[in-house]
Amino acid sequence: MFDSLKPLPADPILGLMAAYRVDTNPQKIDLGVGVYKDEQGNTPVMRAVKSAEARLLQSQSSKSYVSPAGSAAFNALAAGLVLGDNLTHTLGDRRVTFQTPGGCGGLRLAAEFIQKVRPGSKILVSDPTWANHIPLLGEAGLQIETYPYYDYQHHGIRFDDMMTRIGNAGPGDLVLLHGCCHNPCGADLTREQWQAVASLAQARGFTPFIDLAYQGLGDGLAEDSYGVRLLAESLPELIVVSSCSKNFGLYRERTGALTVITGNAAATQAAASQIASTARGMYSMPPDHGASVVAEILADSELNGDWALELTEVRERINGLRSALVIELGKQGIDRDFGFIEQEKGMFSFLGLTVDQVQTLINQYSIYLVDSSRINIAGINSSNIEYLAQSIAAVLKSG
Ligand code: LMR
Repeated sequence: MFDSLKPLPADPILGLMAAYRVDTNPQKIDLGVGVYKDEQGNTPVMRAVKSAEARLLQSQSSKSYVSPAGSAAFNALAAGLVLGDNLTHTLGDRRVTFQTPGGCGGLRLAAEFIQKVRPGSKILVSDPTWANHIPLLGEAGLQIETYPYYDYQHHGIRFDDMMTRIGNAGPGDLVLLHGCCHNPCGADLTREQWQAVASLAQARGFTPFIDLAYQGLGDGLAEDSYGVRLLAESLPELIVVSSCSKNFGLYRERTGALTVITGNAAATQAAASQIASTARGMYSMPPDHGASVVAEILADSELNGDWALELTEVRERINGLRSALVIELGKQGIDRDFGFIEQEKGMFSFLGLTVDQVQTLINQYSIYLVDSSRINIAGINSSNIEYLAQSIAAVLKSG
């Protein structure tokens, strides 16, 4: 059965993690996978997570099954985090939330659910988008098309082109939007642009599908969900996948949520039963630990406050690094303006290098980044920033 199998190339993002680990250069820098790192280069367990885990160790009395939808307490709290308490209340039984195995599991669950109820639906994704969106959505059977998004030359959003393209979508079509901290480019829609997208969705009847993987890492927890909340309150239907990987630092615990908003309670109930059966057919039930930790934190004002504080520290460190990198690159005498990096949000920005230049950074300087020249800003610290800027300058000067 397996004799004629050919190995596949490494995953474009996860492959970098493996290559970085075996590199023996003491100056190596990991700007690849989107994982937060502190000044010492560590990805710490957040304080509130540690406290919640200690409490759970004491209080948990059973490991029995929960359900394909996961923990009801987590689902209510995760919806509140994304939508805000008032809107969650207003939406009432037009909304259902499912705990999922990470954001990836949520994306796949949503795609499989749509494929089940509307096979071969078209989904428009931004050009560029996170590489893993393609298999997560496409391998479920959805038809992927793209809409123009990032302007590589001017480092902004091609908003008019985007609107023209998604304006061709109609009822039964989906448009995937990054809720905040666009991965890979870091360029987010403004509030006015979100409003225009909401009006267009209303006029054309397509269903927005929001991937919210970085809530709290851009401008703040409420600020980063502006688009989600606007669309949730103004449209009859919406799909939102949120992740606790980055904002709770729960990467390996696989903790996320799929929220579906429909036009009425009966449709929500039907959707919930279809989603439950889809989850049951894929993994039966999501893993519990990360969701229990998140529920413990969000339900407790002390833990919640400490978590929000640490998340603010994370966000401010990333934003500070953006400014520091622009300054450091400015010192190198390169004929290029990197000021856009300071305006972009979240973990990622493009450096604007060619694939060859990226390969040179990896092979000659042990600086690991994705081929598109996407860097994880959080991988920078005060000990490596000068070497990084000098290396980028050297690569750019050598053509
Ligand atoms: C990334 O884009 O680096 C992260 O979302 C991690 C991943 O799974 O790709």
